[in-house]
Amino acid sequence: MGRVVVVSNRVAVPRRGEPAAGGLAVALKDVLKSSGGLWFGWSGETRKDGGPETRRVRAGGIDYATIDLNEQDQKGFYAGYSNGTLWPLFHFRLGLMEYDRKDAEAYRRVNREFAQALLPLLGPQDTVWIHDYQLIPMAAELRALGAKQRIGFFLHIPFPPFAVVSALPDAERLLRDLLAYDLVGVQTKSDLSGLLNCFAEGLGLFPDAMGGVRGEVAGQQRRTQLSAHPIGIDTRGFATLARKAAYGPETQRLLNSMGDRSLIVGAERLDYTKGLPHRMRGFGALLANFPEHLNRVTYLQVAARSRNEVATYRDLKRELDSLAGRINGDYAEFDWTPVRYVARAVARDTLAGFYRAARVGLVTPLRDGMNLVAKEYVAAQDPEDPGVLILSQFAGAAEAMDGALLVNPLDAEAMAVQLDRALKMPLGERKERWEGMMRGLEDQTAMRWAENFLTELEEMPLPEQDMMWS
Ligand code: G6P
Repeated sequence: MGRVVVVSNRVAVPRRGEPAAGGLAVALKDVLKSSGGLWFGWSGETRKDGGPETRRVRAGGIDYATIDLNEQDQKGFYAGYSNGTLWPLFHFRLGLMEYDRKDAEAYRRVNREFAQALLPLLGPQDTVWIHDYQLIPMAAELRALGAKQRIGFFLHIPFPPFAVVSALPDAERLLRDLLAYDLVGVQTKSDLSGLLNCFAEGLGLFPDAMGGVRGEVAGQQRRTQLSAHPIGIDTRGFATLARKAAYGPETQRLLNSMGDRSLIVGAERLDYTKGLPHRMRGFGALLANFPEHLNRVTYLQVAARSRNEVATYRDLKRELDSLAGRINGDYAEFDWTPVRYVARAVARDTLAGFYRAARVGLVTPLRDGMNLVAKEYVAAQDPEDPGVLILSQFAGAAEAMDGALLVNPLDAEAMAVQLDRALKMPLGERKERWEGMMRGLEDQTAMRWAENFLTELEEMPLPEQDMMWS
């Protein structure tokens, strides 16, 4: 058995004084620890010139290897192609998508550089697991350098159908790049059907009876398995965190400041896919259409600043600032602020306590691969007095969380109706809905997700074995 080698653009190298990593990083670290594995990716630093140097550290039984990126390439790769082109495209936002050939080239160069830096660190028996849209072509680049190891890919964001993906000038090349993997995993059934549709319409490739397609990359023939692996959280761990945090000073301060009002909570990166302006409008509609909630409810929105180098993110910040100001201006009393808007990151354990204190978790993205906040909100609840999750029908999490109240985030009036319903929901119904969702979360943890993906990947025949059987 070889090691597991995880590759992602961001690497959660433990640093002294920094908050503990999130559930996904914890699950990957557990897998890496048990296989004596390696985590490879970008250091978060840029270099002015010269080639990349690989820096290695060992911490907590895991090897980490990172490289700095060339300053110019990093811009084109990260702010340009990854987050200015692919991110809006994969979230169905063609109107926000930008395309610049130079950025596409920088994206390719960075993926090649990742492959070149990783190859010498790989043993013949290693299994490589590459994550997310920043690194789609990396396996093709590794294959071009002769890598024969099993390589899997997991896309954390949605996979749209070809009618959307075909807007990308490089669509065909990007889809062909996926054929360099032995296993391509997506979050949901709907993403899987998007992926299959892209192969069919974009490349004329149709799945075999087992759900795989065949192709050739860099002279190597292989069968690529395609499957859905919905990601979970460390359910028990998060529940414990929330239970402890509920007695912590931050949650106590929050509760003291609320009086006997109910709390609605939302927390995410400040990203246009999260539907934050729509959510504020939905809350505004609650106050307008159901005046019995005036001065009885507070909406706390934590929006951690993100990707500030991309103009659409800066525009969104301005829009939210003004919306929050408008709602407060229209409805506030001298002793009540309806919207508490915090445009910065809040520590994970503090958030866990806030989730537990909140009667409603409002998670309404316009599109989302899975959405772990929805799962964490549920895990954080007090089993004796659980809150209600309001969830967008466009989050991957909606496929399995049937105890949530589902909304279309574009419909502010409908969101107001669901908010009113959640705020008035009797304990019996809250418990019933929560218990069903919690069972699902205890079954589908982040650890199980990682194990299932890796088991499927490790069972894939290597190309030579495959040839013998075909
Ligand atoms: C999403 C993506 C991740 C990304 C994260 C933070 O969850 O799926 O790949 O790392 O956002 O975004 P950032 O651009 O800061 O890495």
